[in-house]
Amino acid sequence: MSQPGDRPEINALLTEARVFEPTNDWKTHARVTDPGVYEHAAEDPEGFWEDRARELEWMRPWTQVLDWQPPHAKWFVGGQLNASANCLDRHVRTARRNTAALIWEGEPGDRRTLTYFDLYRQVCQFANVLKGLGIRKGDRVAIYLPLIPELAIAMLACARIGAVHSVVFGGFSAEALRDRINDSQCALLITADGGFRRGQLVPLKQTSDEALQGAPSVRNVIVVKRQAGEPFPVHIKEGRDHWYHRLMQDAALDCAPEPMDSEDMLYILYTSGTTGKPKGIVHTTGGYLVGTYATTRWVFDLQDTDVYWCTADIGWVTGHSYVVYGPLQNGATVVMYEGAPDWPNKDRFWDIVERYGVTVFYTAPTAIRAFMKWGAEWPAGRDLSSLRLLGSVGEPINPEAWMWYHEHIGGARCPVVDTWWQTETGHILIAPLPGITPLKPGSATKPFPGITAEIRTGAGVPVEHGGGLLALTKPWPGMLRGIYGDPERFVKTYFSRWDDGVYFTGDGARRDAQGDYWLLGRVDDVLNVAGHRIGTMEVESALVDHPSVAEAAVVGRAHDIKGQSIAAFVTVKEGIKAGAGLMDELKEHVVRKIGAIARPDQILFAADLPKTRSGKIMRRLLRDIAEGKALGDTTTLADPNVVRRLKDEYEADES
Ligand code: WT7
Repeated sequence: MSQPGDRPEINALLTEARVFEPTNDWKTHARVTDPGVYEHAAEDPEGFWEDRARELEWMRPWTQVLDWQPPHAKWFVGGQLNASANCLDRHVRTARRNTAALIWEGEPGDRRTLTYFDLYRQVCQFANVLKGLGIRKGDRVAIYLPLIPELAIAMLACARIGAVHSVVFGGFSAEALRDRINDSQCALLITADGGFRRGQLVPLKQTSDEALQGAPSVRNVIVVKRQAGEPFPVHIKEGRDHWYHRLMQDAALDCAPEPMDSEDMLYILYTSGTTGKPKGIVHTTGGYLVGTYATTRWVFDLQDTDVYWCTADIGWVTGHSYVVYGPLQNGATVVMYEGAPDWPNKDRFWDIVERYGVTVFYTAPTAIRAFMKWGAEWPAGRDLSSLRLLGSVGEPINPEAWMWYHEHIGGARCPVVDTWWQTETGHILIAPLPGITPLKPGSATKPFPGITAEIRTGAGVPVEHGGGLLALTKPWPGMLRGIYGDPERFVKTYFSRWDDGVYFTGDGARRDAQGDYWLLGRVDDVLNVAGHRIGTMEVESALVDHPSVAEAAVVGRAHDIKGQSIAAFVTVKEGIKAGAGLMDELKEHVVRKIGAIARPDQILFAADLPKTRSGKIMRRLLRDIAEGKALGDTTTLADPNVVRRLKDEYEADES
């Protein structure tokens, strides 16, 4: 493949960007059709968010919309509400009570549908179960489950009684789970005997048992029985472990929702940063609910007739905000699918779209690039005519993938909304509104109404048109309120790049002449592998933990499906033989320490790692080597020169 610099089609897209205007139908029938919303919201962002907040159910009204003491924001100050009541109680009092809240499909093909009333009942019951095991408002509860309805039930039950959930993605290792449990001192763990992935049983309970050796804060474990058929060994520790279905049998049916202060903690979700230790991102109740509610409604244009499917695992923030809280607050019918897109065949997703008549479909560029590789005949073999809107999230979407998605999945009739946001932002911040915003393949377009972004140089000078660092200049409702147990890291990571209370995203971006944003990827030591965030330092720590390794440096390498892949440079200890055997062992070691998502694609043994005089590893050189100099041979949009310059500047600043 040629270099991006030599790719006229990309340059043409960047400069003259092909534009898809909303069709007349969208212009007239979308939920938001007034282009004036941007301006109105910009004039009075607090008023804008207040109007959105009024659509939710509050137990006590707020007295102040925003209290901003940079970098600390409080939204809807003095207000009280409950997240589960906004997702459930509000709907069970209307005709929605008998409509489907969750349409779930397990990977082996088992199916369940829960109406809003079913979900409400089970959440109330499980809330009583948690109370019965001594869980109180403010207690942390770890959740390590496959993508099954009980995961949403567990989160909403925590929210109902004011317990703080900490969901850990089922692909993380025992050690990763243990570290997360210990960091926030969880009192209880909810897991399952197992889950399914590519036909394999993932033994979550066994992994949990291993994690719990060395996690003394956990007093009780609740185990969901996922495996209906042949039994496999699950060790139940008397006095600590309880079967979910047994506890639910005796649970009372009603449980009043706990009135939560707008700024009471709703959840913690761990994400990777530039150090070896993941950050426990803290989200609170009022602002987060308003932000997820409003963005789901506006960006996905949710209507009562929609069948909405976001393919993300609930273990990531996308699942928290756009499988659970956003769509359920909107009373949507949500499809959940447990397994892999290519199991048993490469049209499993299209089978699901056809079967349930999915209308709104939200997935990641990595998945889209895999579909492209598998071939258009897979979606072509299914009836996808129910689809009316497509979304993308997690990494920059290259124009080729955007076009393919638009054509082969959307039948050239569905708008594609590329949505930029982060675990820390809680909800979508840059994305089109499908009834108003002209779409450009590869661009996330404009900040959502009420959001203000800026492109800045490292020194903080705003860039009107061109590339730089993406900054968020004003607080927004769903923004993180902190890093659990580490207030200094919160300030340092997000609010110390500039001194004017502006949030640094860690992303490079470019703004074009129309003010549209083109995301270019991370400029810090954070990788984005298949839409999952992984810290280079985390992988390095895992590698040097191996007895044969002296030093390790991890860099990202452009990958045509995953966006980035992990390349690790390793020096071995005196007398150790570096070879293929050790290579495999090191890859497995990283999987054991972190999880399969962090498995290095490449391990390169080196005699020495190149360092500056001050001893800092020269990552740029390593990146060049890992990419065979072809930096950016990529299907990503990133202009290699801009990204390289940003990364160099960033690293110079840090050293
Ligand atoms: C990072 C956040 C947001 C939920 C999934 C990932 C990248 C995310 C986009 C997009 C370009 C994107 C950024 C961001 N990212 N969405 N539409 N276009 N880049 O959440 O793990 O917190 O990662 O993902 O680099 O900083 P996350």
